[in-house]
Amino acid sequence: MTSEQNRVLIFDTTLRDGEQSPGATMTHDEKLEIAGLLDDMGVDIIEAGFPIASEGDFNAVSEIAKNAKNAVICGLARAQLPDIDRCWEAVKHAPQSRIHTFIGTSPLHRAIPNLTQDEMVDRIAQTVTHARNLCDNVQWSPMDATRTEWDYLCRVVETAIKCGASTINIPDTVGYTAPVESADLIRRLIETVPGADEVIFATHCHNDLGMATANALAAVAGGARQIECTINGLGERAGNTALEEVVMALKVRGDIMPYHTAIDTKKIMHISRRVATVSGFAVQFNKAIVGKNAFAHESGIHQDGVLKNAETFEIMKPEDVGLAANSLPLGKHSGRAALRDKLGQLGHEVGDNQLKDIFVRFKELADRKKEVYDEDIIALVSATADSDADRLQIVSLRVLCGTGGPAEATLEMEVDGKEVIATETGDGPVDATFKAVRALHPNKARLQLYQVNAVTEGTDAQATVSVRLEEDGIIATGQSADTDTVVASAKAYVHALNRLMVRREKAGPGADRREISYKEH
Ligand code: KIV
Ligand code: ZN
Repeated sequence: MTSEQNRVLIFDTTLRDGEQSPGATMTHDEKLEIAGLLDDMGVDIIEAGFPIASEGDFNAVSEIAKNAKNAVICGLARAQLPDIDRCWEAVKHAPQSRIHTFIGTSPLHRAIPNLTQDEMVDRIAQTVTHARNLCDNVQWSPMDATRTEWDYLCRVVETAIKCGASTINIPDTVGYTAPVESADLIRRLIETVPGADEVIFATHCHNDLGMATANALAAVAGGARQIECTINGLGERAGNTALEEVVMALKVRGDIMPYHTAIDTKKIMHISRRVATVSGFAVQFNKAIVGKNAFAHESGIHQDGVLKNAETFEIMKPEDVGLAANSLPLGKHSGRAALRDKLGQLGHEVGDNQLKDIFVRFKELADRKKEVYDEDIIALVSATADSDADRLQIVSLRVLCGTGGPAEATLEMEVDGKEVIATETGDGPVDATFKAVRALHPNKARLQLYQVNAVTEGTDAQATVSVRLEEDGIIATGQSADTDTVVASAKAYVHALNRLMVRREKAGPGADRREISYKEH
């Protein structure tokens, strides 16, 4: 096989399939930031969103398209002409654009639009032709392909190819397939369908049975040359194939999988952390490649082996995925230049104003904590600074808690510039604090997620807190970090409330909700 034949395209759908998973909503600026990082790390195709879904999706895809450098920018569209037109309107600004259109072809999915097999074939022909008349790069997907009858699958794939699709994606929408089947399905399609050798086959796997990575790699062995995936495996239910897993598996096991991608693997950790922060979906500690413990060798035997020869227990180097090898902590005497340098090493290029702000928070932290580790710096950057424009600002918080009674929180806040104070009791310090926030700013936002993580070891470790709130279909996530867990919780809650208010104001009555789901036909 030539090097060209061994090249596997990476199609990232963090901003579409990942972002559509309930609760993972990102803001416009966050989507632009993540798209920029994906482009920089060498992703070939970025699926930037589903433009017909809402005004917000459309604007994000358009803006990402305008800012694209090397990546092809793709948008999703159902098999409907207005969807395809809207998608084209958004992606056409990119130097290289793609329309991705799809329809559910399995018996269960065919029943939703109530189309016969023949009617669906006609619809595919009409919509792929329409997309191809707008854009010379069209991808087509038979949703739930792995549960579609074999003969019918061949027929619909052939139709899409004849009508001009240049990429055929085979989704395992419900995470049902297994590696042997995954390889076999792609191989047989390539062997059977007329014109199949003229197009690229893609694999799109979900992780319901924990086989998404294995299925995607098996599909490549079967002939697929595009893997659809997301950072951290973000996605509905158990998620999608994780980009970092397939990319590192191909890199580390090139001996049995002689394929390559264009991904700069050193950029993996940084984007993984950013996606975890902005989506509010923390990475599990033992997650392959990007989990906190992925390169930690806790047991005595392992530590001894790794110290003598890293290869004893390490199949890849931490530096390969962008983890600093021997990074020295900063301390209270470290200056602005050292902080800027460290931020650069960690993948954060910051402007002078942002540096000034992070430096103030760094000094505050260094006063409380002897050694400030890389993880502390990342938490400082991720915990968005309070802005003067925020309607709610915490002035002070005192909490009484312990055995023998409920906790009591006295919170002073500025609400729209006016100082107010409340004391509330609750079932523990965080509950009392959140009640005090609600006493000062009554709201009906539902707490969807409250998550606390220690950034480093030791009792003086910073806690990072994520809070996700939902009100009338609008979702906002807030993050904060502090050596005091209750203070971090209060700040994260208030941060989420501030963002929720901004989103509501921007959206206007009834807007900015996900109006259309890609599951509707
Ligand atoms: O899982 C799926 O089938 C999808 C399609 C829209 C490609 O995400
Ligand atoms: Zn999917």
